[in-house]
Parts: sequence; structure tokens; C-alpha cells
Amino acid sequence: MAKKPSTSKTATSKTASKKPVQKATTTKSPPRKPTQSKKTKKPMDNLGILKNSPYLKQLVKSQTSKKDLTLKELFERNKLSDKEEKMDIVLSGQYQEALDLIYEADASNLYPILVGPPGIGKTTLCRYYAQSRAEITGNDSFEWITFDESTKPAHLVGSFNPATTIQKGFSFEAFNPGPLIKAMLNGGLFLANEVNRATEYTQNSLLEPLEEKTLSIPHIGRIKASNGFFFIGAMNPSELVGTHRLGEALKDRFNVWIELDYPDKKTEMKIIKHNNPYYKVDESTLEKIYLIINRTRTHHQVQTPASLRSGIALARLTGVEQKKSNKEPNKILGELASRVLFGAIQTKPGVKVNDVIKSIISQVVGSA
Ligand SMILES: Nc1ncnc2c1ncn2[C@@H]1O[C@H](COP(=O)(O)OP(=O)(O)OP(=O)(O)O)[C@@H](O)[C@H]1O
Ligand SMILES: [Mg+2]
Repeated sequence: MAKKPSTSKTATSKTASKKPVQKATTTKSPPRKPTQSKKTKKPMDNLGILKNSPYLKQLVKSQTSKKDLTLKELFERNKLSDKEEKMDIVLSGQYQEALDLIYEADASNLYPILVGPPGIGKTTLCRYYAQSRAEITGNDSFEWITFDESTKPAHLVGSFNPATTIQKGFSFEAFNPGPLIKAMLNGGLFLANEVNRATEYTQNSLLEPLEEKTLSIPHIGRIKASNGFFFIGAMNPSELVGTHRLGEALKDRFNVWIELDYPDKKTEMKIIKHNNPYYKVDESTLEKIYLIINRTRTHHQVQTPASLRSGIALARLTGVEQKKSNKEPNKILGELASRVLFGAIQTKPGVKVNDVIKSIISQVVGSA
């Protein structure tokens, strides 16, 4: 993307060397064009960057066309519909294999679980599967929940609206169904994201739906899942901070264990490119981005390495900075890498994060 400054410099110096000859024969020298070389790369300022940002374009347009939308109008405009944009992902290496296994599990009425470090693409793959399943079966029911310590069984099953319950008692009208009930009734897909962050109490509420395909709703009765009900789990490996052990009984109900790890170089570079459609960087910069991110995964002083998200962020930031600045690409990359990595990696006790980042950057691009 960045034009080589050397090309324009050579052109300017050639013109300059011819000038004295011209000067001798004419009284008036032609106007100089000292800025011509700079014209080849016109850095944008912050205003230009923001105004031209594809991420803000929609906002700028809607601000000028329709002002003062009510909250309801804004809600309607932003509501996700069935016509939602088709999701596209990179399907190579481990991702295609994992997707195939999910298809096979679904077809054989088994429950898969994806296990892998944060930011590896577990949720993305499940969402993509939900879309493919909807296309094939015509059933687009897809519900999900991301568990944490505070998730209660009622968040899955549903709860009674207190005001309506006072008027009508514990009736069906007063019941707000939770996502698990919806997926079961519709014969849809339910994604239990970060399932091992749930307490054992909440994990246990999944036992009945997974084994019997039934679920008891207090005061209302027991429902049986419609045909097609499918359940996918996703979690970080249990050794990560903040995760609980998956209870033995729940563990036993997941029949297909799909491990995802940091992808191979080719796949990760494809993913970075795929998620950076606007501020493209050249192949050699992209490769250096990958190398920086990858070094955090092999560095002996790093406890939590950088995920796919860091590579994507670094590519976008580098791309946009290259539009603004005439700095040498390696310098840009080195400076921005520390901005992205600072909070993205965790070092082992007693090791300063900035020291590790510096050493990784200097290995890949020299000192920034
Ligand atoms: N196969 C893929 N194709 C394109 N982009 C991907 C792919 N896998 C992951 N990504 C991108 O990587 C980022 C992280 O992916 P995702 O959120 O799915 O990870 P995760 O494993 O669910 O992370 P966490 O454990 O933190 O929930 C997202 O920005 C996503 O767009
Ligand atoms: Mg996720």
C-alpha cells in the first residue's frame, strides 16, 4: 500500500541534475516542483481518517439523513432479522475438521463440545454452523448463553414476571421462557458458551435436557424437546483461571470432544486478512504480524499468549496508521505491536510485560 519513497526521490534528483543546463539557455527557470515526490503519498490527518473510515460511514450517513430517531425507531433499524447478512469465515485446517465433526455429531444426535484457549474461534465456528444448519434444515432457531459465576438455572429455563404473576398466578402468561426452553421447543440449536464458567449448581440444570431431552418448568410442567434439538458446548481449557471443573455427569453427556488450538500460519494469516477488509497491509507486513503474535505463544516467559484477536487488531491498526504516516513500515509495526500486546498477554510472575514485548518486537522487526 505504501509507495516506495525511493522511487519518487530518484525521479526528483534526475530532474534536478538537468536544471543547470536549462538555466544557462533561458532567463526564466521553470517553476520547481519540489513537492511532487511527496504528492505520491499523501498522508491523511485524523479528520480524514475518521471521515473516510468504513466503520463510521454508516454512522455519518444516518446522522445526516435521519435525525432524531426515537429509541423505538433506532431499535427497529438495528434489530437483527432473518435477513441478517450472511456470515463468512475461514474454513481451512482445523476449522474445516471441527465443522465436519459438528455436522456428524448433529446427524447422529450426539452433543459436541469445543475446547480451546480464548479467541481461537469457538463461538465463530458455532455461529457459522447455526447458519449452515438453518440453510439446510430451514429451522433457524439458534439460542445461546455465555455462562459465568452468576448464571442461574432461571437464566436458561426462564422466569415468572412478578407483576403478571401477582395478577394471574404462576400461569403460562406470566412465564418468560429462557433460551434453553426456546431451543428445545423449536427443535433448534443451543450453544452453551463458556460452559465451565458456570457453577456446578447451574451445570446440573443441563443434565436432564441433555440426557432425557426433557425439562421441568416449575408450576407449569415438563416439556419434551422437539426433534432436531441440538446442543453444543464451548469452553476454555479447565486449567485457565476463572473456570470450574466440568462436573463428571455433564462431562459424560458431551460425546464429541473437539480441541482447537492456535491455527497454522497460513490459516491464521487468512483469518487476519479476512477480518481486516478495509485497511489492507502487504504480505510481508502481514507475515511479521503473524510472527509477532506467534512468538507470544512460544515465549518461555509468557503465561497467556495473544489470541487471534490481537493479530486482527494489529493488522487493522497498522493499515490505518500506514495511511496517516510516512514512517517506515517496520517502525509503525513495532510501535503499534506494543499497544496491542500490552493487555493481550500475561507474563509469568516477576516478568515485566514490556520487556517481553520489546524482545519479541526486536526479534521480528528490529528495535522500534
Ligand atoms: N475461522 C475463522 N474465520 C474468520 N474469523 C475467525 C475465525 N475464527 C476466529 N475468527 C475471528 O477471531 C476472533 C475471535 O473468535 P471467537 O470470538 O470465535 O473466539 P472464541 O474462541 O469464542 O473466544 P473466547 O474463548 O474468548 O470466547 C473473532 O474476531 C473472529 O471473527
Ligand atoms: Mg467465545
